[in-house]
Amino acid sequence: MSADSSTSQEIRNPAVDGSELIRFDHVTKRFGANTVLDELDFSVASGKHVTLIGPSGSGKTTILRLLMTLLKPDEGTIKVGGEYLTHEEKNGKLVPAGEKHVREVRKNIGMVFQQFNLFPNMKVLRNVMEAPVTVLGLSKDEAEERARELLDMVGLGDRCDAYPTQLSGGQQQRVAIARALAMRPQVLLLDEVTSALDPELVAGVLDVLRDIAHTTDITMLCVTHEMNFARDISDQVLMFDAGRVIESGSPEKIFSDPEHERTREFLSAVL
Ligand SMILES: Nc1ncnc2c1ncn2[C@@H]1O[C@H](COP(=O)(O)OP(=O)(O)O)[C@@H](O)[C@H]1O
Ligand SMILES: [Mg+2]
Repeated sequence: MSADSSTSQEIRNPAVDGSELIRFDHVTKRFGANTVLDELDFSVASGKHVTLIGPSGSGKTTILRLLMTLLKPDEGTIKVGGEYLTHEEKNGKLVPAGEKHVREVRKNIGMVFQQFNLFPNMKVLRNVMEAPVTVLGLSKDEAEERARELLDMVGLGDRCDAYPTQLSGGQQQRVAIARALAMRPQVLLLDEVTSALDPELVAGVLDVLRDIAHTTDITMLCVTHEMNFARDISDQVLMFDAGRVIESGSPEKIFSDPEHERTREFLSAVL
């Protein structure tokens, strides 16, 4: 398959402007007989904030897990920063990528999960320092300086010595955000990061994310049911149904004047 085989196909979500950072070309993902993503094409331009919405089971998490290389596509290709994520070119042919290649490309991508997934046996500071030291090879001093700065930014500069279980869910999630940012990723993936939180803790986490969206040039791919937040930060909203993008556009357009009946139904259920 050639790298630009998609040019003959309709691209539902062309990059708005700037350079293209993420590109899915005809990506199909199946679990047994269940086709979760069906020849999915989409792209995200560098620095943009894209929100994925759609019913439960429509494949949103699968997209993020593919980008994190926690899953591999059955067909199609994914590129990040112009590099194939799970393939590499050898002698002009596209072959499945080796572990080393995958690790290199994945360094550009950070993810925050619904369930925080902090290292329970490490204090907060070490949670944030660990990957920069072990994966990027930063010195302990550099990693600690970076970690303290980020923990300050998320309002937890005074909790460096706590263990995750000593923190509220909202605080744990802010540590998880700091931990993802410590890798200086180009892309930040956010998968329903406030869904597991008590309602009174949601705003603090969303404030941190708004701040990141408005003050950094990190490209964000966000799955959320917080529609006001999505409206604030998104350049583009993609509506998924059954593994395809059925509609995309500005948040104003999608939330106020959606074209598709499915989008209208979905929004009336969540808004
Ligand atoms: N590891 C897995 N094994 C089998 N089926 C899976 C797995 N992960 C997801 N699925 C199925 O894929 C579909 C899409 O899931 P997901 O991407 O989590 O949807 P969403 O995040 O939009 O709710 C669902 O039908 C789900 O049951
Ligand atoms: Mg999901």
